[in-house]
Amino acid sequence: MNTLDALKTRRSVRAYKPDAVPAELIDRILEAGTFAPTGMGRQSPIIVAITNKEVRDRLAKINAAVMDAEDDPFYGAPVVLVVLARKDVPTRVYDGSLVMGNLLNAAHELGLGSCWIHRAKEEFETPEGAAILAELGIDASEYEGIGNCILGYADGPEPEAAPRKDDYVYRIV
Ligand SMILES: Cc1cc2nc3c(=O)[nH]c(=O)nc-3n(C[C@H](O)[C@H](O)[C@H](O)COP(=O)(O)O)c2cc1C
Repeated sequence: MNTLDALKTRRSVRAYKPDAVPAELIDRILEAGTFAPTGMGRQSPIIVAITNKEVRDRLAKINAAVMDAEDDPFYGAPVVLVVLARKDVPTRVYDGSLVMGNLLNAAHELGLGSCWIHRAKEEFETPEGAAILAELGIDASEYEGIGNCILGYADGPEPEAAPRKDDYVYRIV
Protein backbone atom coordinates (compact mmCIF):
# COMPACT_ATOMS: atom_id res chain seq x y z
CA MET A 1 0.00 0.00 0.00
CA ASN A 2 1.46 3.38 -0.90
CA THR A 3 1.14 6.35 1.45
CA LEU A 4 -1.69 8.04 -0.43
CA ASP A 5 -3.75 4.83 -0.52
CA ALA A 6 -3.11 4.29 3.19
CA LEU A 7 -4.21 7.83 4.02
CA LYS A 8 -7.42 7.41 2.03
CA THR A 9 -8.39 3.97 3.26
CA ARG A 10 -7.65 4.27 7.01
CA ARG A 11 -10.83 4.24 9.06
CA SER A 12 -11.66 4.33 12.76
CA VAL A 13 -12.19 0.78 13.99
CA ARG A 14 -14.62 0.27 16.88
CA ALA A 15 -14.67 -3.54 17.25
CA TYR A 16 -11.57 -5.59 18.03
CA LYS A 17 -10.53 -9.19 18.42
CA PRO A 18 -8.84 -9.87 21.76
CA ASP A 19 -5.71 -11.17 19.95
CA ALA A 20 -2.43 -9.63 21.10
CA VAL A 21 -0.52 -7.46 18.64
CA PRO A 22 3.07 -8.61 17.97
CA ALA A 23 5.62 -6.38 19.73
CA GLU A 24 7.47 -5.91 16.44
CA LEU A 25 4.42 -4.26 14.85
CA ILE A 26 3.87 -2.02 17.87
CA ASP A 27 7.51 -0.97 17.70
CA ARG A 28 7.19 -0.01 14.02
CA ILE A 29 4.07 2.04 14.73
CA LEU A 30 5.77 3.77 17.67
CA GLU A 31 8.78 4.57 15.53
CA ALA A 32 6.50 6.13 12.88
CA GLY A 33 4.96 8.25 15.66
CA THR A 34 8.34 9.54 16.78
CA PHE A 35 9.11 10.77 13.27
CA ALA A 36 6.19 13.21 13.16
CA PRO A 37 7.18 16.83 12.64
CA THR A 38 7.14 19.05 15.73
CA GLY A 39 7.27 22.80 16.21
CA MET A 40 10.91 23.93 16.08
CA GLY A 41 11.86 20.25 16.21
CA ARG A 42 11.32 20.30 19.98
CA GLN A 43 9.81 16.80 20.06
CA SER A 44 7.40 17.88 22.80
CA PRO A 45 5.34 14.65 22.79
CA ILE A 46 5.91 11.37 24.57
CA ILE A 47 4.11 8.11 23.87
CA VAL A 48 3.11 5.67 26.61
CA ALA A 49 2.58 2.24 25.03
CA ILE A 50 0.20 0.13 27.12
CA THR A 51 -0.07 -3.58 26.40
CA ASN A 52 -0.48 -4.64 30.05
CA LYS A 53 -4.15 -5.61 30.42
CA GLU A 54 -4.47 -4.47 34.01
CA VAL A 55 -3.15 -0.97 33.22
CA ARG A 56 -5.14 -0.83 29.96
CA ASP A 57 -8.31 -1.62 31.93
CA ARG A 58 -7.46 0.98 34.59
CA LEU A 59 -7.04 3.64 31.92
CA ALA A 60 -10.30 2.57 30.22
CA LYS A 61 -12.14 3.10 33.53
CA ILE A 62 -10.57 6.53 34.02
CA ASN A 63 -11.54 7.52 30.46
CA ALA A 64 -15.10 6.21 30.82
CA ALA A 65 -15.51 8.06 34.12
CA VAL A 66 -14.79 11.37 32.36
CA MET A 67 -17.98 10.74 30.35
CA ASP A 68 -19.86 9.27 33.30
CA ALA A 69 -20.08 6.06 31.26
CA GLU A 70 -19.37 2.42 32.03
CA ASP A 71 -18.84 0.88 28.58
CA ASP A 72 -15.26 0.23 27.45
CA PRO A 73 -14.26 3.42 25.58
CA PHE A 74 -11.42 1.44 23.97
CA TYR A 75 -13.86 -0.97 22.26
CA GLY A 76 -11.99 -4.05 23.45
CA ALA A 77 -8.71 -3.06 21.76
CA PRO A 78 -5.78 -4.76 23.52
CA VAL A 79 -3.26 -1.93 22.98
CA VAL A 80 -3.42 1.77 23.86
CA LEU A 81 -0.72 4.21 22.75
CA VAL A 82 -1.21 7.38 24.76
CA VAL A 83 0.28 10.58 23.38
CA LEU A 84 1.05 13.37 25.83
CA ALA A 85 3.08 16.51 25.25
CA ARG A 86 5.06 18.90 27.41
CA LYS A 87 2.87 21.67 28.80
CA ASP A 88 5.63 24.24 28.46
CA VAL A 89 5.74 23.91 24.66
CA PRO A 90 3.21 26.17 22.90
CA THR A 91 2.87 23.83 19.90
CA ARG A 92 2.14 20.78 22.08
CA VAL A 93 -1.38 20.07 20.78
CA TYR A 94 -0.27 20.36 17.15
CA ASP A 95 2.83 18.26 17.81
CA GLY A 96 0.90 15.56 19.63
CA SER A 97 -1.88 15.49 17.05
CA LEU A 98 0.63 14.84 14.27
CA VAL A 99 2.10 12.00 16.31
CA MET A 100 -1.42 10.61 16.68
CA GLY A 101 -1.92 10.86 12.91
CA ASN A 102 1.30 8.98 12.24
CA LEU A 103 0.31 6.25 14.69
CA LEU A 104 -3.16 5.82 13.15
CA ASN A 105 -1.85 5.73 9.59
CA ALA A 106 1.09 3.44 10.38
CA ALA A 107 -1.28 1.00 12.11
CA HIS A 108 -3.44 0.88 9.01
CA GLU A 109 -0.46 0.37 6.73
CA LEU A 110 0.54 -2.64 8.85
CA GLY A 111 -2.94 -4.20 8.73
CA LEU A 112 -4.11 -3.16 12.18
CA GLY A 113 -7.26 -1.33 13.19
CA SER A 114 -7.00 1.86 15.22
CA CYS A 115 -9.03 4.78 16.50
CA TRP A 116 -8.32 8.09 18.25
CA ILE A 117 -10.04 8.04 21.62
CA HIS A 118 -10.42 11.43 23.22
CA ARG A 119 -10.24 12.68 26.82
CA ALA A 120 -6.51 11.97 27.29
CA LYS A 121 -6.19 15.46 28.78
CA GLU A 122 -8.76 14.72 31.48
CA GLU A 123 -7.35 11.21 32.11
CA PHE A 124 -4.05 12.53 33.39
CA GLU A 125 -5.59 15.32 35.42
CA THR A 126 -6.99 12.63 37.76
CA PRO A 127 -4.89 11.15 40.58
CA GLU A 128 -5.44 7.67 39.10
CA GLY A 129 -4.13 8.76 35.70
CA ALA A 130 -1.20 10.61 37.24
CA ALA A 131 -0.35 7.42 39.16
CA ILE A 132 0.04 5.48 35.89
CA LEU A 133 2.58 8.06 34.71
CA ALA A 134 4.29 8.17 38.10
CA GLU A 135 4.97 4.43 37.79
CA LEU A 136 7.11 5.37 34.76
CA GLY A 137 8.79 8.26 36.55
CA ILE A 138 6.77 10.83 34.56
CA ASP A 139 5.41 13.86 36.39
CA ALA A 140 1.83 14.30 35.11
CA SER A 141 1.87 18.00 36.00
CA GLU A 142 4.44 18.55 33.23
CA TYR A 143 2.39 16.93 30.45
CA GLU A 144 -0.95 17.38 28.73
CA GLY A 145 -2.73 14.30 27.40
CA ILE A 146 -3.39 14.69 23.66
CA GLY A 147 -5.00 11.43 22.56
CA ASN A 148 -5.28 7.69 23.03
CA CYS A 149 -4.54 5.63 19.91
CA ILE A 150 -6.16 2.24 20.39
CA LEU A 151 -4.79 -0.64 18.33
CA GLY A 152 -5.69 -4.21 17.54
CA TYR A 153 -7.03 -6.57 14.92
CA ALA A 154 -10.37 -5.40 13.57
CA ASP A 155 -13.30 -7.67 14.29
CA GLY A 156 -15.16 -7.29 11.00
CA PRO A 157 -14.64 -5.12 7.93
CA GLU A 158 -13.35 -1.58 8.31
CA PRO A 159 -16.18 0.92 7.81
CA GLU A 160 -16.57 3.00 4.65
CA ALA A 161 -15.38 6.60 4.68
CA ALA A 162 -18.07 9.26 4.94
CA PRO A 163 -18.34 11.28 1.72
CA ARG A 164 -16.08 14.32 1.81
CA LYS A 165 -18.00 17.60 2.07
CA ASP A 166 -18.20 19.69 -1.11
CA ASP A 167 -16.67 22.84 0.34
CA TYR A 168 -13.61 21.20 1.93
CA VAL A 169 -11.12 22.88 -0.40
CA TYR A 170 -10.98 26.48 -1.56
CA ARG A 171 -8.56 27.26 -4.35
CA ILE A 172 -6.82 30.50 -5.09
CA VAL A 173 -5.36 30.14 -8.56
C1 LIG B 1 -9.72 14.62 18.09
C2 LIG B 1 -10.47 13.33 17.84
C3 LIG B 1 -11.15 12.75 18.89
C4 LIG B 1 -11.84 11.54 18.68
N1 LIG B 1 -12.43 10.93 19.75
C5 LIG B 1 -13.07 9.75 19.55
C6 LIG B 1 -13.62 9.04 20.66
O1 LIG B 1 -13.50 9.46 21.81
N2 LIG B 1 -14.27 7.89 20.41
C7 LIG B 1 -14.41 7.38 19.15
O2 LIG B 1 -15.02 6.34 18.99
N3 LIG B 1 -13.86 8.01 18.08
C8 LIG B 1 -13.20 9.18 18.25
N4 LIG B 1 -12.59 9.80 17.20
C9 LIG B 1 -12.68 9.21 15.85
C10 LIG B 1 -13.63 10.01 14.95
O3 LIG B 1 -14.95 9.83 15.37
C11 LIG B 1 -13.42 9.55 13.51
O4 LIG B 1 -12.09 9.85 13.11
C12 LIG B 1 -14.39 10.22 12.56
O5 LIG B 1 -15.71 9.79 12.81
C13 LIG B 1 -14.06 9.96 11.08
O6 LIG B 1 -14.02 8.56 10.83
P1 LIG B 1 -12.71 7.86 10.23
O7 LIG B 1 -11.61 7.99 11.24
O8 LIG B 1 -13.14 6.45 10.01
O9 LIG B 1 -12.37 8.57 8.96
C14 LIG B 1 -11.89 10.97 17.38
C15 LIG B 1 -11.17 11.57 16.34
C16 LIG B 1 -10.46 12.73 16.56
C17 LIG B 1 -9.66 13.32 15.43
